[in-house]
Amino acid sequence: MRNRGSLVFAALAAFGIAGFAEAVAQGRPTPDFAFYRSKVEPIFLTKKDGFTRCVVCHAEANNHFNLQKLTPGAAAWTEEQSRKNFEMVVKLVNPGDADTSRLTMHPLAPEAGGSAYHSGGRQFMNKDDPDWKILVQFVDGAK
Ligand code: HEC
Repeated sequence: MRNRGSLVFAALAAFGIAGFAEAVAQGRPTPDFAFYRSKVEPIFLTKKDGFTRCVVCHAEANNHFNLQKLTPGAAAWTEEQSRKNFEMVVKLVNPGDADTSRLTMHPLAPEAGGSAYHSGGRQFMNKDDPDWKILVQFVDGAK
């Protein structure tokens, strides 16, 4: 009967793990607006050497990463525009899971595990890019 005992134990252990995973799933992080506005949005606006700024292609874009148009002469979005951007960006995020979020995977180089196709090209060459890490923190609910 030793074997049956260990089978029961294995079944209980497996159930325990499933229950734990479920609990974690229910407590999923929520992306934070203040973090978005102070840390994430500047990434969309800042020129990096050798790269076109996200906002150049994605203001009033006809794809789902559709940023508000900047007011002519303005260097950044107003709070109201940022809120609209935030609502749009959150839809490209799978909270707590950067590996399946379009926001993080689409602009990442395919060699680094990103999407095979982005018309805007490789915006982040690998997962060590500090800006890419900020996007991941956002997906993970950083405040
Ligand atoms: C040179 C223009 C260009 C630049 C610069 C650019 N993109 Fe894009 N991006 C596109 C185009 C065009 C698409 C839609 C077609 C596709 O999926 O490639 C797209 C698609 C996307 C999508 C998927 C949207 C959807 O419909 O699901 C995301 C997310 C994205 N880009 C993020 C970024 C980020 C973040 C940056 C800056 C770090 C950036 N892009 C820079 C042109 C650009």
